[in-house]
Amino acid sequence: MKFSKSLLSGALLAQVASAINLDTNSYDSIKSAAKLVAADLANGFWDPYSVNGVPFPTYYWWLHGGILGTFVNYWAMTGDDTYNSNVTVGWLRGVSPSLDLQPDEQSFSEGNDDQGIWSIMSMEATERVFPETDAQKTMGAGFLEITQTVQNLQARRWDNATCGGGLRWQINSANSGYLYKNTISNGLFFQMNARLARYTGNATYANWANTTYQWMRSTKIIGDDFYINDGAFVPDCTKFSTQRWTYNYGTVLAGVAAMYNFTDGDAYWKQQIDSVLQATFATFFDSATGAIKEIQCQDSNTCNNDQPSFKGYLVRWMSYTAQVAPYTYAQIMPKLIANAQLAAATCTGQPGGNVCGLKWNIGAQWDGKYGLGEELSAMEIIQHIAPSVAPVGYVFSANNGGISKSNPGAMGTQAGIHDRNSDYLPYRLPNYTITLADRVGAAIITIVIIVVLGVGARFTMIH
Ligand SMILES: *[C@@H]1O[C@H](CO)[C@@H](O)[C@H](O)[C@H]1NC(C)=O
Ligand SMILES: *[C@@H]1O[C@H](CO)[C@@H](O)[C@H](O)[C@H]1NC(C)=O
Ligand SMILES: *[C@@H]1O[C@H](CO)[C@@H](O)[C@H](O)[C@H]1NC(C)=O
Ligand SMILES: *[C@@H]1O[C@H](CO)[C@@H](O)[C@H](O)[C@H]1NC(C)=O
Ligand SMILES: *[C@@H]1O[C@H](CO)[C@@H](O)[C@H](O)[C@H]1NC(C)=O
Ligand SMILES: *[C@@H]1O[C@H](CO)[C@@H](O)[C@H](O)[C@H]1NC(C)=O
Repeated sequence: MKFSKSLLSGALLAQVASAINLDTNSYDSIKSAAKLVAADLANGFWDPYSVNGVPFPTYYWWLHGGILGTFVNYWAMTGDDTYNSNVTVGWLRGVSPSLDLQPDEQSFSEGNDDQGIWSIMSMEATERVFPETDAQKTMGAGFLEITQTVQNLQARRWDNATCGGGLRWQINSANSGYLYKNTISNGLFFQMNARLARYTGNATYANWANTTYQWMRSTKIIGDDFYINDGAFVPDCTKFSTQRWTYNYGTVLAGVAAMYNFTDGDAYWKQQIDSVLQATFATFFDSATGAIKEIQCQDSNTCNNDQPSFKGYLVRWMSYTAQVAPYTYAQIMPKLIANAQLAAATCTGQPGGNVCGLKWNIGAQWDGKYGLGEELSAMEIIQHIAPSVAPVGYVFSANNGGISKSNPGAMGTQAGIHDRNSDYLPYRLPNYTITLADRVGAAIITIVIIVVLGVGARFTMIH
């Protein structure tokens, strides 16, 4: 075939003009926009058959848990099941033959936060009644039972010996992060317990949620003004990393919202929701544009490969809050709609002409960033406004629509290979030998910079 000059320039023009049009009042438009971003995320940054689930060594395994949650939400918000079978593959790869979200190849550097992000993904799949396959059920890898497994394992890691409680960041005591009790590990454990309590009605989970929350308040990891630190150092948790990250606020918000719902509207938990929500708005919502900003790294262009996804989790958990604490819907949804519009306007980047940026506050232009987190965050903000125009986005519970099997005593196989290998076989890594690079490259990245100032030390933790 021969292209005429005018056809060619027409094609070029079309590519330049390509963008994501979003009419926030139209469910069809929201679905079309989400579908374009989903394709860019799936084609560019997701391979459920690869070791880390993300096909580049610069992205780590925990982000695969983030991606799977985003695609669970995609199905729930749009009804499009194109990606469901790959969600199942990715899920079983992460669950691993030991049924505990601790695959051998991640075992060295996996932190409580990495396992926590995956377990929140499975809680989401549980609440949204994401389809479970027969093989998954037979082998004991249903969504609820694996969340319960992680709860049981992490509850045993609760560490009273330092800081009066809390989870350490790292599981493996050889890693430097073992000396840090970070907010995201504890905040995910809190959220997991609160959502398990709401979903199952089991008070044991509510007690754990309350214990974890009271510990975060009493250490001042969550400050009296509800500004949330990144974490605190053992042995006494009086030294903090004071950086502010969207996902830390988001995980605390979703947890207090689940507790509010579990307690049928208890005034204490309502007060916590209102305070965390106000601190979130004040910290991350740009006053000029209303755009959510990752204040620690966005303007300075210093975000690493993990951080651009954090806004996506905040959005996810704000949306969850609007569902289980419906009185917040009128505060939350207009802000999400405004951000969906702002984010979609940035989706003019290359390759393909629909790539979204991280800077939702700079108007209708792409910031030149092509990355996993940028796509994930844009996809979450766009799809999470669907409940404003369509009857979607509900979260179910065991006595109201939920069907995932409960197994409160589940503990995985305690690092053993479970005995139903024939079910698991298709999901195992083919002839894979674990390398040191895999082990050190698994987790939310750790760089601890210790700057000694005159008296004492200031700690900066960069995730
Ligand atoms: C599922 O994953 C495989 C392997 O990465 C890929 O070839 C395929 O295109 C994916 N399917 C969809 C619908 O994205
Ligand atoms: C930690 O301490 C709390 C109260 O201080 C107690 O209830 C709990 O059982 C202890 N947990 C462990 C694992 O020892
Ligand atoms: C939560 O813990 C606090 C402090 O330990 C206690 O006063 C309160 O009664 C607990 N609330 C619930 C709902 O268990
Ligand atoms: C708990 O969540 C359900 C489902 O979203 C909602 O209908 C109910 O009103 C919530 N309860 C409270 C006290 O807001
Ligand atoms: C509630 O959860 C706890 C902790 O996992 C478990 O031991 C207990 O059996 C559960 N109770 C019910 C009724 O499921
Ligand atoms: C992979 O492992 C299988 C079974 O252990 C073996 O039969 C096969 O030869 C191996 N393939 C490669 C390429 O090593």
